[in-house]
Amino acid sequence: MDSKTLLVFLVVCFLSEFSYGQRDKKFFRKDYTYIESEQSFYKVHSVANTFNEAKRICALEGSMLFYAEDVEEFKAVLSLWQRTQPLIPWVFVGLTDQMSEGLFETVDRRPMSEVYTHWQRNQPDNSKDNEDCVCMDYLGTMNDYICETKNHFICKKTLQSLEWNNNCNMSNSDYIYNQDIGKCYKLHTTPMNWTDAYAACRIESTSLAVINNRMEADYLAKLTENTPEPLVSEQYLQGVYHVGFHNRFLEGWQTVEGTPMNVDAELWFNNKLPQNHYEECGSMFFNGRLVSNSCNMKSFFICEQQAIPTTNTSTSTEQNEENYMQS
Ligand SMILES: *[C@@H]1O[C@H](CO)[C@@H](O)[C@H](O)[C@H]1NC(C)=O
Ligand SMILES: *[C@@H]1O[C@H](CO)[C@@H](O)[C@H](O)[C@H]1NC(C)=O
Ligand SMILES: *[C@@H]1O[C@H](CO)[C@@H](O)[C@H](O)[C@H]1NC(C)=O
Repeated sequence: MDSKTLLVFLVVCFLSEFSYGQRDKKFFRKDYTYIESEQSFYKVHSVANTFNEAKRICALEGSMLFYAEDVEEFKAVLSLWQRTQPLIPWVFVGLTDQMSEGLFETVDRRPMSEVYTHWQRNQPDNSKDNEDCVCMDYLGTMNDYICETKNHFICKKTLQSLEWNNNCNMSNSDYIYNQDIGKCYKLHTTPMNWTDAYAACRIESTSLAVINNRMEADYLAKLTENTPEPLVSEQYLQGVYHVGFHNRFLEGWQTVEGTPMNVDAELWFNNKLPQNHYEECGSMFFNGRLVSNSCNMKSFFICEQQAIPTTNTSTSTEQNEENYMQS
């Protein structure tokens, strides 16, 4: 190979390596599909929900309730919609006049004139003075509709807004990495009952935190003590965080992973397993001791994600750069 051929060869190698790396990086969550022409990720939800629930679920997933910027984006997303959920006739889109009747805005408060709109004839009509949320059918036609009805919806995440939490291998930067434990944790300070807390972690693609040993309990105790308590106006159980164990099926205390809870007795409050058969859900006192609670009690809660095992080999940095998204 002469030097000119070698140069061309190297440039080609570099370019293909580069484009391979770029393509690889376009990852947000397993349940989202990247659409190249829109530089964004989308998920068509198969479970219908009210408008405000839909907004909340997208936010927990790290994204936003979808509305189209223009007709091209509508068509691109329609093709995903028809490929993945062909039976869904219409969806809620992120447009509403809930704040002030007649003033339609996007959920991130942009004027409607900036985005794709295509009202059906004689719409919006605010029928019975009760229609503040916008539905769109597969023709892209829009109608104002009742926010409290349950409809399917689509969430969207732009590539531009994507940040990557390298240690935790996820896009959510609220998760705090602990290298000794090999897990990432997030304290949620919106009180929820145990089953809703379980769901909130799952929607974030994580799990209620499982405490296996004293090191984990002590670390979580430290985390909770260092977290200032926010002002919460509603009633909730103070002094504990819901974590990932329960006896809801009266099969004995088990973790959310389905394995028996076999932590040291000293980790249980009062050094003994809970006995009350009306308190079947697991929580942790601020000092890291485990206690049972009624599953319908609202309290703060902790989600966890397994971290990526760190390696100290010379190739680890290169691999990280190839495999994980960086903002
Ligand atoms: C990071 O997450 C992705 C998607 O969930 C997964 O496919 C990959 O195996 C994970 N990488 C590591 C090193 O755990
Ligand atoms: C938790 O709250 C939800 C409403 O947010 C309710 O539907 C559910 O039944 C409650 N779970 C328990 C175990 O009380
Ligand atoms: C990796 O190397 C750094 C510095 O050489 C060291 O501080 C760190 O503890 C090592 N991490 C692991 C997991 O061995």
